[in-house]
Amino acid sequence: MNAIIYVFSGTGNTMRICSLYQEEFERQGVATTLYPVRSDMSDLPDPNAFDHVGFAYPIHAFNAPKIMLTLAKKLKPVSGKAFFILKSSGEPLKINNVSSLRFVGILKKKGYVFKSEYHYVMPYNMIFRHTDREAVKMWETAKALCPIEAREVLCGAEHKLPRVFLGRLFAWLLRIEQIAMRVNGRFFRVKADKCVLCRKCEKACPVGNIRIDEKGRFSFGKNCLMCARCSFFCPTDAFKIGILNGWRVNGAYPLEGGESKELPTQENKHEWYCKKAYARYFAAAKEKIEKHSGDL
Ligand SMILES: Cc1cc2nc3c(=O)[nH]c(=O)nc-3n(C[C@H](O)[C@H](O)[C@H](O)COP(=O)(O)O)c2cc1C
Ligand code: SF4
Ligand code: SF4
Repeated sequence: MNAIIYVFSGTGNTMRICSLYQEEFERQGVATTLYPVRSDMSDLPDPNAFDHVGFAYPIHAFNAPKIMLTLAKKLKPVSGKAFFILKSSGEPLKINNVSSLRFVGILKKKGYVFKSEYHYVMPYNMIFRHTDREAVKMWETAKALCPIEAREVLCGAEHKLPRVFLGRLFAWLLRIEQIAMRVNGRFFRVKADKCVLCRKCEKACPVGNIRIDEKGRFSFGKNCLMCARCSFFCPTDAFKIGILNGWRVNGAYPLEGGESKELPTQENKHEWYCKKAYARYFAAAKEKIEKHSGDL
């Protein structure tokens, strides 16, 4: 048996979730490929070659990132192949459920059968910085939950997230974000006094949107996905990300414990934000984890 997960991950959260699935799948004897989605899709693996097919992405403005919609359009048609979706997002609001509607719609027309979807809360890479403690709690929860849900996927269990009233309209309206981010991406700037020209950002951009010339001058193209990878991982915090600069989050979270990043930690002034929704998410996760604590 084998499996593939086509994964887009801006700053690593979704890829981490997929790695947990890969670990559990392989423990169950299913050889698993994680295919990182980039703008160059010339080497797209054929889903027909896999017993289990999954797609994973971070939620962007309550939608799947545009690159995932492009992927869905490019994939080969199949005849009744089941698929699952894994998504990560910074807050657990139910409205995030609408993020898969368009993606699923495209795949259904190509003969894919939507079987299940799972949503994991992971630290924000945009909007505001969670505290290290919150981030670790999210990650520890995902680590306990993913193996259970990975086994559900392998069993072919149905798992659909609740519908949202007027969700399709809401998701459609918010897809304006995809155009807005392409425009905003042209207004990215790098502070020359901070930049050490390590070129990490240029190499990491999944759509090749950053160019640095031989004189160290930056230019930004029109294909930005606003995945946040460049600004999040810049080692000197040199980025300004256009009109969204107030929402910029910089530096990896210490998910496996230890000290926070070397850069000054951004303050979290949002301790009341979605407090009830987070509490519900962690309570439901705890209940499921406890229920399955005796499983293999
Ligand atoms: C442009 C953008 C839009 C986002 N929109 C949402 C959102 O609508 N809801 C949400 O809960 N999180 C949102 N987030 C946060 C990410 O979904 C979250 O941090 C995710 O785990 C990042 O995954 P990644 O590291 O795989 O990119 C957004 C992040 C970015 C960069
Ligand atoms: S990652 Fe930061 S420091 Fe490195 S080249 Fe890009 S802007 Fe400059
Ligand atoms: S420019 Fe930065 S935010 Fe935009 S797609 Fe490239 S890495 Fe992502």
